Amino acid sequence: MPLVTNRQLLDEAAKGGYGVGAFNVNDMEQIQAIMEAAKETNSPVIIQASRGARAFAQDNYLYHLMLAAAELYPQIPLAMHLDHGNSFETCESAIKLGFTSVMMDGSLKADGKTPSTFEENVEVTRKVVDYAHERGISVEGEIGVLGGIEDGHGAGGSGLEHVTDPDQAVEFAERTGVDALAIAIGTSHGAYKFTKKPDGSVLKMDLLIAIHKRLPKTHLVMHGSSSVPKELQDIINQYGGKLKETWGVPVEEIQLGIKNGVRKINVDTDNRLAITGAIRKVFAETPEKFDPRDYMKPARAAMQKVVAQRMTQFGQAGHAGDYTAISIADMAKGYANGTLSTKPLVAAR
Ligand code: G3H
Ligand code: 13P
Ligand code: ZN
Repeated sequence: MPLVTNRQLLDEAAKGGYGVGAFNVNDMEQIQAIMEAAKETNSPVIIQASRGARAFAQDNYLYHLMLAAAELYPQIPLAMHLDHGNSFETCESAIKLGFTSVMMDGSLKADGKTPSTFEENVEVTRKVVDYAHERGISVEGEIGVLGGIEDGHGAGGSGLEHVTDPDQAVEFAERTGVDALAIAIGTSHGAYKFTKKPDGSVLKMDLLIAIHKRLPKTHLVMHGSSSVPKELQDIINQYGGKLKETWGVPVEEIQLGIKNGVRKINVDTDNRLAITGAIRKVFAETPEKFDPRDYMKPARAAMQKVVAQRMTQFGQAGHAGDYTAISIADMAKGYANGTLSTKPLVAAR
């Protein structure tokens, strides 16, 4: 089927009561791993590319790889999403290229590091929503700021410094009309999220539940949601890596989130770990090898395994067949005539 929008995927996920993994890619092998995992588990899926990925792969390669994925797996509903757009112009260029969904991360200024003001965030996000919806494209906004700057996004510090305020989340959703809302509940990007298994003092699931109570129909997004499994850390370290002990977001906490309005779950780091571990293993065990296929194949298989596991854990497995693609033109009509609502349902405090 043609590329579909995040809005369609997340509306459908809300009906089914499941979450959809959004997996980051930079190259063909990562796209192949995700699509094979989606086929294996019969899952709808979101593939996302950051600004860094767009620069690494080049826009046209990325876009045509995504078209190839849609062509080769016609049974899989697939959205192509811009992760952490830093400005109106970045979102505009993604939409012009053919992305079916964009994130305008106005929680940070365009440098991707300095927290912006609430008003600045509303203003730039609203501008992207107006432009995108007119063209049938979905928009994710972010209120609150993630911790860490490990991969270039985030205000630094712990994930607790700029957690989302529920009242601001309500006002932000009302004033911007976003299709999905990323919130900050103590997570950060990258491998080093928590120094021990996180409890409620550092991973604020209570806050997520409070936001969901106020915005019961809004599709919530969890960023920084890699679980950083010990097995994957161990493989890297066993074969010469030097990762420090660390914890990610436990899958059972994500599942609690899914019961409370989380519809999109961003995962990148777990796949990076799986790929690196598999490549290190080949290099360490068979140092005579030099054909890239000898290590890229196990790397791709290791990523496929992680993605398939997450698809099952998030509940999207088995749901690929629930969809009839809604064209981008029809999405645009839906926004224009109000059948696709952009006004959140707000419950009293
Ligand atoms: O949001 C962060 C994702 O993991 C993408 O990271 O900017 O290094 O591509 P990146
Ligand atoms: P992780 O670093 O936890 O995989 O988070 C990825 C992410 O949030 C991408 O936007
Ligand atoms: Zn993110």
